[in-house]
Amino acid sequence: MGTRAKEDIQPKTPDEIVKIHAAGRIVRYALEAMRDAIVPGVSSTSDLERAAARAITEKGGTSAFLGYAPMGHPPYPAWTCISVNEEVIHGIPGRRVLQSGDIVGCDVGVKLDGYFADGAWTFPVGRVEAEIERLLATAEEALFQGIAQARTGHRVGDIGAAIERHVRRRGFSVVHEMVGHGVGRALHEAPQVPNHGRPGTGPLLLEGTTLAIEPMVNMGSRQIEVLNDGWTIVTHDRKMSAHFEHTVAVTRNGAMILTQGD
Ligand code: MF3
Ligand code: CO
Repeated sequence: MGTRAKEDIQPKTPDEIVKIHAAGRIVRYALEAMRDAIVPGVSSTSDLERAAARAITEKGGTSAFLGYAPMGHPPYPAWTCISVNEEVIHGIPGRRVLQSGDIVGCDVGVKLDGYFADGAWTFPVGRVEAEIERLLATAEEALFQGIAQARTGHRVGDIGAAIERHVRRRGFSVVHEMVGHGVGRALHEAPQVPNHGRPGTGPLLLEGTTLAIEPMVNMGSRQIEVLNDGWTIVTHDRKMSAHFEHTVAVTRNGAMILTQGD
């Protein structure tokens, strides 16, 4: 037996996948609580953060994000990431009040019993323009196109290729700099899961591989910037961006979504 580099995929046992799924159910529950807390013209992003924290605590989980400090970042100061309109990901909850016509990306990571799951959804606030509805639908569809590739014997590049193909067909663009990731024993594990790529390239997906697949889809150009808070990623052209994420387990029969109820 050779030694395993930290950069290698570490497939999970069925028992571990059960634990990641338990964390993932709480992710889903918290995202629903955030959605239900949206009142156009009334609720702030902090209100959604509080709703998520309450939901996670009620189920016995903790935030995988609070205090998280990867190299070059200040410790993350909240339980969730909330990204409005031109914010792509990693928006910090605060006093901003959500208005009808906005979109709000909610991202939740839960740790439960030593295991992690990560998920995100972008919700319309009140009524949004038809083109924004199309952006949301495209990004969600792109996530599921990527998930459909997450099966034994496929490679990581198959996921990104499927995501970007779908997004380009709809006339939108995919962020390249920020990627999905392995998840389970930690929030971020190998491999990186880009939202673009070439079919048949990249690490091989083994039975039990657990991945967070998370396309970020921009209405305009794919270029991004980081705000001065050290966290918030925004589109360079300040046009809208949508983000959808599921934690999945790779099986011979396809991907099993762990950030949902069943
Ligand atoms: N789901 C996001 C990601 O995977 C959020 C993690 S950043 C954190 O990048 F600091 F908020 F944890
Ligand atoms: Co993630």
